[in-house]
Amino acid sequence: MSVAKSGRTRGRGLLVCIEGLDKSGKTTHSRLLVKDLNEMGYDAVYTREPSLGEVGRLIRKIILHGWRRAPPVLEAVLFAADRFDHVEKEIKPALEEGKIVVSDRYLYSSLAYQGASGLDLDWIMEINRFALPPDLAIYIDVPVEVLAKRMGEKRSVMEWPRIQSEVRKVYLKLVKKGFLVPVDGNRPVEEVSREILSLVLERLKGKGRLRV
Ligand SMILES: Nc1ncnc2c1ncn2[C@@H]1O[C@H](COP(=O)(O)OP(=O)(O)O)[C@@H](O)[C@H]1O
Ligand SMILES: [Mg+2]
Repeated sequence: MSVAKSGRTRGRGLLVCIEGLDKSGKTTHSRLLVKDLNEMGYDAVYTREPSLGEVGRLIRKIILHGWRRAPPVLEAVLFAADRFDHVEKEIKPALEEGKIVVSDRYLYSSLAYQGASGLDLDWIMEINRFALPPDLAIYIDVPVEVLAKRMGEKRSVMEWPRIQSEVRKVYLKLVKKGFLVPVDGNRPVEEVSREILSLVLERLKGKGRLRV
């Protein structure tokens, strides 16, 4: 059953994004959420940023696999360009079909990561103005020390905890401002996923005030 067919949401889909630091459980929980919703009969799809499009591939090549961080402005405009591509090619068509779109990272990753690099949050918002506001933005919060343990030996770079702490500060600021709904991610996977599912079901049942 798509959201459209359920008749609760005026014929359009629902955009949910899952945010958090590296290893906080975004991919685990985005996939579990899609699986749970599908099992309940909803038409839910998983997608992620950087997207699978050409700009997304470019980001993976020059930023994520690069030997050092690119300048923050370059990161910000590339992520914004990829997001435009992602919204136009994947998110909008799926929402028009009445699907629940679960995006593993979205707009708030740009705010948190590039904001933590010193860029102005309003400027980041401005270059992302085209991005559809999500119906529900969930932030999986996990302390940096716990993440460092999940990371294991892979990221023993000294800078890593410091950068992650800065990013977490911006995420928590966005929670305070009401943009993100926090979920305590430092609990067993089943508990976290149950809470995320119930937030989504609540949003689906709610007033149906979709902004997409
Ligand atoms: N609530 C949790 N408790 C313990 N480990 C978790 C939890 N959620 C995820 N993990 C583990 O942490 C690792 C990172 O999860 P992942 O979903 O890939 O994170 P992300 O996509 O945010 O980087 C995985 O090995 C996963 O099994
Ligand atoms: Mg992931």
